[in-house]
Amino acid sequence: SVQELEKIFQDKVDQEIKIEPKDWMPDAYRKTLVRQISQHAHSEIVGMLPEGNWISRAPSLKRKAILLAKVQDEAGHGLYLYSAVETLGTTRNQTIEDLHSGKAKYSSIFNYPTLTWADIGAIGWLVDGAAILNQVMLCRASYGPYARAMVRICKEESFHQRQGFEILLVLSKGTPEQQAMCQDAINRWWWPSLMMFGPKDSESTHSDQSMTWKIKRKSNDELRQQFVDMIVEQAKILNVTLPDPALQWNAERGHYDFGEIDWVEFWNVVKGNGPCNKQRLEARRKAWDEGAWVRDAAAAHAEKRKARQEV
Ligand code: 3HC
Repeated sequence: SVQELEKIFQDKVDQEIKIEPKDWMPDAYRKTLVRQISQHAHSEIVGMLPEGNWISRAPSLKRKAILLAKVQDEAGHGLYLYSAVETLGTTRNQTIEDLHSGKAKYSSIFNYPTLTWADIGAIGWLVDGAAILNQVMLCRASYGPYARAMVRICKEESFHQRQGFEILLVLSKGTPEQQAMCQDAINRWWWPSLMMFGPKDSESTHSDQSMTWKIKRKSNDELRQQFVDMIVEQAKILNVTLPDPALQWNAERGHYDFGEIDWVEFWNVVKGNGPCNKQRLEARRKAWDEGAWVRDAAAAHAEKRKARQEV
């Protein structure tokens, strides 16, 4: 019976036995994984847009080469995760269509503009920093393909965060204009980075079930707190101030207290009304249409190769 299958499934999860594509799994488990992994993949691909905006304007060849490598990594992470979605029986086209139609989400953080070169540093330091905390946790997800994809992705993410911090460190030691540019970028990226961890635990629709199924090992607020505690220390080295007057060490808790997130802004951006939502989706639809000939050529080439091998 389904009850027996569900019990066997949950026992495996409780014993830390990875669930693999061919294993029986509750429909709802499959569905929430398709939801989360596809949105994770969309985040990687859409995340290439704000960063890509500075490839042609990087201040040196070295910075350009590093940024090119980072954006290329994000594309790879996206493709890796789209493949993980396919192991759950959803086609690549369906997944992409859900992004273009506005049905699927991607991380709110990528709906903000990259106005100066310091934004590339702030994205590496804060956005990739937040992504690492989340993705290190996901290395232990109960679904095998997702957990394994995360191991590979986390190795590249730590390079992303370090190069971002280094960009800001150089600016923080530069001219007064460069120091101001560094502070301005942090002012604009700090709060949206905290929103990456999702709504408060009390507002989180999926957390309880995702915790039971060991997709999520730490709650949104737990990871957010870990992020704040980590970044506040690193900000001291940059000699910048984080734009939250309520930030304060709480010896009792052993953590930093911090101010209230603007949840109206969060849901506004998630619902598609952020500064760049429309242009991000337009860019993705345009790239998909303009890339049709590449997909057709690759498919034709694969057909020919297959025909040759069958001779
Ligand atoms: N942006 C957009 N939507 C968000 C969001 C955000 N920052 N945070 C939460 N949401 C959505 C959720 O997707 C969910 O909506 P849905 O039911 O339509 O999917 C709703 O808000 C309620 O949130 P929950 O907390 O209930 O949702 P989850 O349990 O899925 O937790 C999450 C949210 C922590 C983001 C989780 O989905 C997750 O860990 N996802 C995988 C990691 C990921 O996607 N990271 C995004 C950044 S990737 C990145 O930064 C790449 C790096 O290389 C730069």
